[in-house]
Amino acid sequence: MKRREFLLGSGAAVSALGLGGFALASGPQELVVQPARFALREQVTNGMVSLSADAPPPALYGKQGEVMRLPVRNTLPAYTSMHWHGLRIPNDMDGVPYLTQMPIGEGETFDYAFTPPDAGTYWYHPHCMTMEQMAHGLTGIMVIAEAEDPGFDSEQIINLRDFRLDDADAFLPAYTPRGAARAGTFGNVHTVNWLQAPVYDHTAGGLVRLRVVNTDTTRIYKLNLDGAEARIIAWDGHPVEIEVPMPSAQDPLLVGPGQRVDFAVKMPEREGQTVNLMAKLPGQPLRAMAGLRSVGASVSRDMRELRPLPFNPVARPDLANAEVHEFVFGWTPEGGVPNNGFCGSLGYNFRSINRLPWPGDAAQDVGPLATLEMGRSYVLRLRNESPNLHPIHLHGLAFVPIKSSLRTLPPLMTDTMLLLKDEVVEIALVADNPGDWAFHCHVIEHQKTGLTGFIRVV
Ligand code: C2O
Ligand code: CU
Ligand code: CU
Repeated sequence: MKRREFLLGSGAAVSALGLGGFALASGPQELVVQPARFALREQVTNGMVSLSADAPPPALYGKQGEVMRLPVRNTLPAYTSMHWHGLRIPNDMDGVPYLTQMPIGEGETFDYAFTPPDAGTYWYHPHCMTMEQMAHGLTGIMVIAEAEDPGFDSEQIINLRDFRLDDADAFLPAYTPRGAARAGTFGNVHTVNWLQAPVYDHTAGGLVRLRVVNTDTTRIYKLNLDGAEARIIAWDGHPVEIEVPMPSAQDPLLVGPGQRVDFAVKMPEREGQTVNLMAKLPGQPLRAMAGLRSVGASVSRDMRELRPLPFNPVARPDLANAEVHEFVFGWTPEGGVPNNGFCGSLGYNFRSINRLPWPGDAAQDVGPLATLEMGRSYVLRLRNESPNLHPIHLHGLAFVPIKSSLRTLPPLMTDTMLLLKDEVVEIALVADNPGDWAFHCHVIEHQKTGLTGFIRVV
C-alpha cells in the first residue's frame, strides 16, 4: 500500500471516512467516533467502534514541526476522549479525561490541535471508555514524517491487534475477571489493519518502511521478519542510534501494547516473492501476520541509499545530577472500585503504584505520584513486584532505559517500557514538558484496575 492511499484528505480517505461531499476547504476534517460493522472473520461483526461506518480507523499523517488539527466528534451514547500516544505535545491536548480535559459526550466535539515535535510512528486511541472502545476497534496509527524524506519507495503500516469473537463472529466480553487479575484477557482473532494475514504489494527490489504498531489491549507480540534483508531503524517512534540486532524466530522481538518498531525492508528482486512478518503466539506454530509481496520489474535499490533518520529533538538527561524516584508496581490489599466518572470501570481495583490503587479518573483531590521540576534530569526506578509483565507508559515525555536487574537494555528512546516479571529498570529523562502526565500500564485491564497514576512537571 502506497503512502497516499492512506493520506487523510486524499480522495480515498474521504470516502473511507464516509464523508463524501465533505468540503475540505471548510476546515480540518472531523474524526467522527461512531459505530461500525466489518468482516473481521467470515461474517460481519457488529458493534465495532471506528471513525467510519465500515472501515478501520485511518492512519493519520502529519509532519514534524507542522500543526495538526484533529477535531474529534463523538456520536456514541458513551463518552470518549482521544489520546495521541507518544507525541510530546501540550498537556491540554493529551486527551486524558478529568486530568487534562472533560470527557467528550454524545454530540460534542473536542478540537485537538498540536504540533508534533518528533517524527516517527505513533498512534491514537481513546482514554475514556478505553477498554470497551479499544477492544471494539478504536485504535489507529499516526505517522509523523521527517522534515526531509529519507528515501523509501513506499511504506506499509501494520496495526497489530486481536479481537475476541464467538463462533458467530459477534464480540465476546472484552475481558474476564480471571484475565484482569492475571496477564489480561487475550483475543482469539489476530489481525493486521483489521484483516487476517493480509498481503500487500510493493515494488520488487524497492525499499519499504514497515511501521509496526501493537495497539492491542493485552498481547505482548513476539515478532520476527522472514524473507528479506531488513534492519530496525526506529523504536517507539524514535530513530535508533545504535545497531539493533534483527530478531529471529528463535530470538523474537518483544513488542508490548503501545510499542512500535520501524523496519527498513529491501523487497526481494523476484516478482511474487514474499516477506513475512511472523509472530509466535502461545501454543501455535509461527504464523505470518502480514506479507509484503514483490511486484513488477525490480528497481534494485540498495539499503545504503537510505538517508539515516535524523534524531528527534529529545533532551539528554544529565545522569550525574539526576534525582531518583521509585515506583513500585504491585498489588493492593485495599481494592475498592475506582471512580472513573463517565469513563468506564471494570468494577474492581487490585493493582497499585507505590501501594496506591488509582482512585479513578474522576476521583477528587488525587495528587501526583511525583512532582518533577521543569528542565531537571530524573531517574525513575521502576520495580515490578507482580508476576505479570507490564508495558509501563508515560505520557508527554520521552525517556531512555539505563539499567535493568535482569538484562542488558539497549538505550533506545521510548515512551513505553516493558517490565519483565520481578524486573527493576531505571529510566532517565529530562522533565521538559509541563503538566500532569498519565503514567500507567498499557495492558488495559491492568490500567483500569489500579495500575495508573500521574506525574506532574512544574
Ligand atoms: Cu497509549 Cu495513556 O496511553
Ligand atoms: Cu500515551
Ligand atoms: Cu500491566
